[in-house]
Amino acid sequence: MFANSRTIASAQTDIHDHLAARVQRHLAEPFRKPIGDASRHALDEALAAWRGAGGGGGGGGKVPLILDAGCGVGESTLRLAQAFPDHFVIGVDQSEKRLTAGKDWWEGEMPKNFHWARADLVDVWRMLVDDAVPVARHYVLYPNPWPKIGHLGRRWQGHAVFPALAALGDYLECRSNWKIYIDEFAAALEMVGRPAVTEPWLPTVPMTPFERKYGASGHDLWRCVSIPTRASVK
Ligand SMILES: C[S@@+](CC[C@H](N)C(=O)[O-])C[C@H]1O[C@@H](n2cnc3c(N)ncnc32)[C@H](O)[C@@H]1O
Repeated sequence: MFANSRTIASAQTDIHDHLAARVQRHLAEPFRKPIGDASRHALDEALAAWRGAGGGGGGGGKVPLILDAGCGVGESTLRLAQAFPDHFVIGVDQSEKRLTAGKDWWEGEMPKNFHWARADLVDVWRMLVDDAVPVARHYVLYPNPWPKIGHLGRRWQGHAVFPALAALGDYLECRSNWKIYIDEFAAALEMVGRPAVTEPWLPTVPMTPFERKYGASGHDLWRCVSIPTRASVK
């Protein structure tokens, strides 16, 4: 089962025909969905943990923030915390089950510079933008691909929250085993004014369970990386 993950099957053979119009519409129309109380509370707790570790406050504090968006069971949160010991990592996922599941797969002591938050990213991304929270590094690792043509709106680049997502992270990275997802993500970033590059991704050590599963199944992996040279779009 583990090394037997199917590659993405989709009738879509290139960037979605409606992507540009969709992104333009989301840039033109404010996204008014109310913020959920649970997300607000979870993010406040996470930001308080970051401040407690020396981040935030006037001038952005001394400890830069990393956002691990859709962290699943949280392995990437721990790996990022280890890789960037002078940063603080907030891992966000909507699944309580994934976040609270046993972590016996982690060997040795866990790093201290992280916090897991159960929250809806559709709220979290907008709150971080509205509160002008500086995010140094932003990872969107193996988001649900929603490969059906009719599901463009469920992919992050086709979602109304995309302008907020794209405004966060001096460094922004998305990974997927579906090349079209990464091509669309990069195209949508360009549309909101962020230059982006795409490339095959060949991890030496897998950073997430999905990366491990896809790698073991022989899938090609792709990533999109964006480092802004222009002011981010709100
Ligand atoms: C395919 S899994 C990838 C998990 C992890 N990044 C990995 O690579 O193993 C996608 C994750 O995104 C989370 N997710 C999807 N939509 C979300 C939302 N609106 N808010 C928060 N998490 C969300 C899911 O709960 C799931 O854990």
